[in-house]
Amino acid sequence: MSALIDNLLWYSIVSNFWQNCLSRIGEGVDSAIEAVRRSLRASQLVAFTGAGISAESQVPTFRGADGLWRNYSPESLATAEAFTSDPHLVWEWYDWLRGLIHEAQPNPGHLALTELQRRNPKGFTLVTQNIDGLHERAGSHDVVKLHGDIWRLRCTACGREELNEQVPMDHLPPLCRCGGIQRPAIVWFGEMLPEEEWERAVDAARQANVFIAVGTSALVYPAAGLVKVARQSGALVVIVNPDPTPADDLAKWILRGPAGEILPRLL
Ligand code: OAD
Repeated sequence: MSALIDNLLWYSIVSNFWQNCLSRIGEGVDSAIEAVRRSLRASQLVAFTGAGISAESQVPTFRGADGLWRNYSPESLATAEAFTSDPHLVWEWYDWLRGLIHEAQPNPGHLALTELQRRNPKGFTLVTQNIDGLHERAGSHDVVKLHGDIWRLRCTACGREELNEQVPMDHLPPLCRCGGIQRPAIVWFGEMLPEEEWERAVDAARQANVFIAVGTSALVYPAAGLVKVARQSGALVVIVNPDPTPADDLAKWILRGPAGEILPRLL
């Protein structure tokens, strides 16, 4: 008898789940956008961005058909071990990437997030996995940067950090004034996220009424885990992405499409 009740319970949970999914997908895009637009008046809003938000600025994403990790191996470019064994090679790649980013301009997706922050400065937190600095160039401030910043260098000998916007760099690998080799101040595979940034991100996710994940494959942890933290703390989760992601099941609303088209419509 109890097995029967268990089965019925499971059936009802699973069928409710699919009804939610279907109605989500079945909703017209306009009505979904209107519903999300209303929800963004929430007092505590977190925008969590990934490489996809910069795709319309012609900065390639990491995964997907034209993703950087299709043509380059992260093991040979984005790990501390790779840097130790060949800093010049690693720097050549990052110097090339800095050149691409330098040419890029913030797109309407970045600008829409800047506008959301302007409207609700105390209740809006922008958390990004991006290292490109395009959010700041669009006018966003206090950005929580989980994966660092490609425009900052850190000395591998003395730990000193500095801003360096030279494109291309005149000496590879760049050297600190102490003589040590500098590395990009970004988080490579196998490295810890900066503690203070991570704590700010988790706090914001816990307090969020609405958590909107934009342009991320939600595959790279611990950052991707923020979606679940927000959901479990009661936030309404919205996903903006042209493609499915593993975080879709956590979302109330999935807006399929490019961030540069969808985000301005949410204002
Ligand atoms: P990914 O490259 O893994 O995923 C990019 C996501 O953006 C995909 O889900 C695409 O479907 C989506 N996308 C593409 N074009 C889009 C558009 N116009 N609008 C909205 N979405 C679009 O990038 P991340 O999730 O950011 O680490 O990757 C996480 C981390 O992996 C990165 O921070 C990076 C990488 O290794 C570091 O740089 C340290």
